[in-house]
Amino acid sequence: MDLAQLTSDLDALAVETAAAIGAAPDIAALETIEVEVLGKKGRLTGVLRGIGALPVEDRPKVGAVANRVRTAIEGAITGRREVLGSAELDARLRAEVVDVTTPGRPIRRGSLHPSLESMAEIARIFGQFGFVVYESPEIENDLTNFQLLNIPPDHPARDLWDTLYLDVPGHLLRTHTSPGQIHVMRTVKPPIRALLPGRCFRYEAIDASHGTEFFQVEGLMVDEGTTLGDLRGLLDEFAHAMFGAGKRTRFRPGYYPFTEPSVAFDVECLVCGGVGCPACGRSGWMTILGAGMVHPVVLRNGGLDPERYQGFAFGMGPERISMLRHGINDIRLFLENDLRFLGQFR
Ligand code: PHE
Repeated sequence: MDLAQLTSDLDALAVETAAAIGAAPDIAALETIEVEVLGKKGRLTGVLRGIGALPVEDRPKVGAVANRVRTAIEGAITGRREVLGSAELDARLRAEVVDVTTPGRPIRRGSLHPSLESMAEIARIFGQFGFVVYESPEIENDLTNFQLLNIPPDHPARDLWDTLYLDVPGHLLRTHTSPGQIHVMRTVKPPIRALLPGRCFRYEAIDASHGTEFFQVEGLMVDEGTTLGDLRGLLDEFAHAMFGAGKRTRFRPGYYPFTEPSVAFDVECLVCGGVGCPACGRSGWMTILGAGMVHPVVLRNGGLDPERYQGFAFGMGPERISMLRHGINDIRLFLENDLRFLGQFR
């Protein structure tokens, strides 16, 4: 190995490497070349290993050539890296372009079920009069669903509530939310202003106005000196908030074993305004709910002294209220989960 040989080897390496760098198709290929030539075990180092065989005075000369070659290769790599880098960036920008003017995918917005929407509105209105919402179980026993509400076993009034019994003796699916009255009276001290919304179950022949599963909202107020007039005033406010200010209302005599006196509360027909039409059976009135003054027996069963406390209770069907408000003519729609129906209440 002599100086001339080493120098020409270095020059050859420089030329060959410059060609390879110029032909490198991407950054990864370029980095491979860099390692192969300039790395610790690279070809440049390999060539320089021959330096030890040279006379001492020649060694700096080879060193100078080697530095020039290294600098040239490094410069070429940097230059090529810039070219390739911007080409790759261009390609990525082209490939990953986002068209911000493309219309977005619509987000489907849900809506409240009309029964729930109606119950929320009922709770909102009575909430303004201080009524608080309570929950009460859907599985009840005969005692609370009937007997404590002044409906003894075998009493003909039981015919009002066709009942689904469970195979657990004495247990049933509540036929109304009224057993909630007992639970509240036994839990909360008067003054009581309670609202009890919830699902009820009856063994009914299903038709456009009867379901086996439906909601009720029970109301209960108990205090000293509560009167039927208070009930009428409150229900008037409710009817006006729910169906429109100025709507005429009336009490009709009714019958429930757990209230005395009992009433049906009517609002003037929303369709004909009280003149009489097919929607109201030509009466001009629509029945909204049943109500009455809590029977002394029920107050006592709730642990309260009827000599000191009086109260009223009412029970309404939110589906029925929703049907009247929105002109829906079939209660079965509420359980069919047909989005074409449900999506109309937003
Ligand atoms: N629970 C009665 C029903 O199911 C409604 C009602 C509630 C009546 C409260 C009077 C008082 O029909």
